[in-house]
Amino acid sequence: MEKNLKAVDIVFEVLDARAPLSSKDMNIDRIIGQKAKIIILNKCDLSSDDGNKKWISFFNRGVTEVALVSAVTGDGLKNIANLARKVINKAGIKNKSIRAMVVGIPNVGKSTLINCIAGKKKAKAANKPGVTRAKQWIEAKSQFELLDTPGILRPREDKETFSNLAFIGTINDDVLDVKTLVYSLIEKLVEIVPEELCAGFKIDIKDKTPLEILENIAAKRGCLLKTGIVDYMRASNIVLSEFRKGKLGKITLEYPGC
Ligand code: G4P
Repeated sequence: MEKNLKAVDIVFEVLDARAPLSSKDMNIDRIIGQKAKIIILNKCDLSSDDGNKKWISFFNRGVTEVALVSAVTGDGLKNIANLARKVINKAGIKNKSIRAMVVGIPNVGKSTLINCIAGKKKAKAANKPGVTRAKQWIEAKSQFELLDTPGILRPREDKETFSNLAFIGTINDDVLDVKTLVYSLIEKLVEIVPEELCAGFKIDIKDKTPLEILENIAAKRGCLLKTGIVDYMRASNIVLSEFRKGKLGKITLEYPGC
């Protein structure tokens, strides 16, 4: 990465807007040093408006420009060019075409974003977290040359970070105990967005444990095995999938200063 830094004008650090701190590489600021940088808060179609505002002002306070983007809907994409131009002008660079390196931990949406900026299917979007790609330059139709780097960055390793990344699907479900993961997700949703949880599944959660809530969801969604026993696995997958697709609403999992 240090070598690649010399070949670019600016770094685009991509974070997941639902969990910006958890999806941030712990060493990235040290590695990037004084290089021009903007933060791209991607997947803003899934994060709350209040969370977005708070994170933008948090990063702005550290004097970093932030583009709020959804690589899927295309929202905010135009802002990237404006901010990048502003930052590199400030750094005294006058190149016509901006050479940018896109960095971020796996699954934050780097390939999708590059494809969006480039205007065609150039970078390979991985459908499994942790799929690495070879370094490649992508010539965008507009004013960018983008350097896509393999998903080699690492998030912090504390329990909270691990849970948040597991909730948003950055850690492969195959290596997780899905039922335990879903209990923690339900616990988290009860704490931060109880109304969305009730409304999303049309259930009452008052005084219920995560297990009882999951059983309620299973009953509502007809997740029963032939023997009449609750199909916990199916119900768990429904909760995970609906949360990740934003069907329970736009939810930010962590806030600055928490
Ligand atoms: P990466 O290069 O950083 O590893 O991430 P990648 O682009 O492969 O994206 C990871 C997943 O995140 C993909 O979903 C992608 O569609 C999704 N994604 C990327 N940007 C956004 C965004 O702004 N909003 C939303 N809602 N999703 C986004 P997938 O399920 O793994 O693949 P697929 O179903 O899209 O094929």
